[in-house]
Amino acid sequence: MQQKISPASRISGSITLPGDKSISHRYAMIASIAEGDSRITNYSTGADCHSTLGCMRALGVEIEGSGTEFTIHGRGLHGLRVPAGDLDAGNSGSTIRMLSGILAAQPFASRIVGDESLSRRPMQRIMSPIEQMGARVTARDGKFPPIEIHGGALKPIEYTLPVPSAQVKTCVLFAGLYADGRTTVVEPVKSRDHSEIALREFGADVTVGNGRITIAGRPRLTGRDLQVPSDISSAAFFIVAALMVPGSELTIRGVGLNPTRAALLDVLGEMGAHIRVPNLESVNGELIGDIVVEHSQLKGGVLQGALTAALIDEIPVLAVLGAATTGGIEIKDAGELRVKETDRINTVVDNLKRAGLRVFETANGMVIPGRQKFRAAQFDSFGDHRIAMAFAVAALTADGECTIDGAEAASVSFPEFWDKLNQVRG
Ligand code: S3P
Repeated sequence: MQQKISPASRISGSITLPGDKSISHRYAMIASIAEGDSRITNYSTGADCHSTLGCMRALGVEIEGSGTEFTIHGRGLHGLRVPAGDLDAGNSGSTIRMLSGILAAQPFASRIVGDESLSRRPMQRIMSPIEQMGARVTARDGKFPPIEIHGGALKPIEYTLPVPSAQVKTCVLFAGLYADGRTTVVEPVKSRDHSEIALREFGADVTVGNGRITIAGRPRLTGRDLQVPSDISSAAFFIVAALMVPGSELTIRGVGLNPTRAALLDVLGEMGAHIRVPNLESVNGELIGDIVVEHSQLKGGVLQGALTAALIDEIPVLAVLGAATTGGIEIKDAGELRVKETDRINTVVDNLKRAGLRVFETANGMVIPGRQKFRAAQFDSFGDHRIAMAFAVAALTADGECTIDGAEAASVSFPEFWDKLNQVRG
């Protein structure tokens, strides 16, 4: 699908966005192995989170509901059934990596497949810890999906994450639920902590301190009612659009503001953005609030180290923003971008060049000089949802109509994106 986008005169109004992708996956997986029913509201409408529901159903979990509300009839830690065929994770790295932690402990073998993009993404990062715990795992060329997991009795380990990854951390913590003793993940760089929060909500014993997360094996997890906050990584596209288009003022309601996810707001604030976050509350252990953002001239800056890791999903749209800052944005330490749904350093740089921008690609990042204007261009999502949406934002500020090829990719996390954009753009 090709989407045409004309320049915007302003971004304004008040919107709500779909549920957080990271939290939705975790609630669905944990609810499936809890005892009793969980009712989840504002569940992500993205295809990725539906891949997770599909896998849980294939493992014998009864899930009722549609749209954004689901009731999951938990089967308990030991109630999953042998799947009749392959488990399909689609485009979702979170599904294959986090679910692997649960499958590592099952008394049966399962095979997880994915689409073309997922089939090129590295899996050794989860294979290694679950093999240490006692599972046997095979993968295409020893590292790519499809992966086949032969589960069994697991022993607890202490595991230091070689790459900052909440998906790997979660995989080990989920496997730790089944181990006989306490499993510890050591995180040299802090990553999103939704799993720790969600596991505690369901009744697990999780302790956190000094970069160490410890989970006690074989807890009693009990079903509960949960509300998913709106996704700040989806909000990022609207926040940047409002910052870039003169005369804009936009309110986004009920967004998840967990500090491990909200680095975007801190960074933008430091660059000079006018952003307020009224109506803060805590729901199921997660911080939620509104975001009010106005058009602002930003100075730009350098993103590096732990900050880059905390902002990893927001970098495509921050690269777009870089062009509109006075001093430009330099992105360092972002090698992980090369193994996302696409090589996002490559796909961002390619699209920026299509709009006539000067940009410098480095091994682990890029430099986008400031004070540059997007020329009308034909952008390509390369099948990556965040690339489609980031360049839709660029198009709003271009000097003529732009097109986005492969715009349907947005549905992976945010099917309503194009409608919501039309709702707030002038
Ligand atoms: C996610 C963690 C991040 C992120 C992904 C979702 C999660 O990946 O890029 O979109 O829900 O845990 P890594 O943990 O591999 O960095």
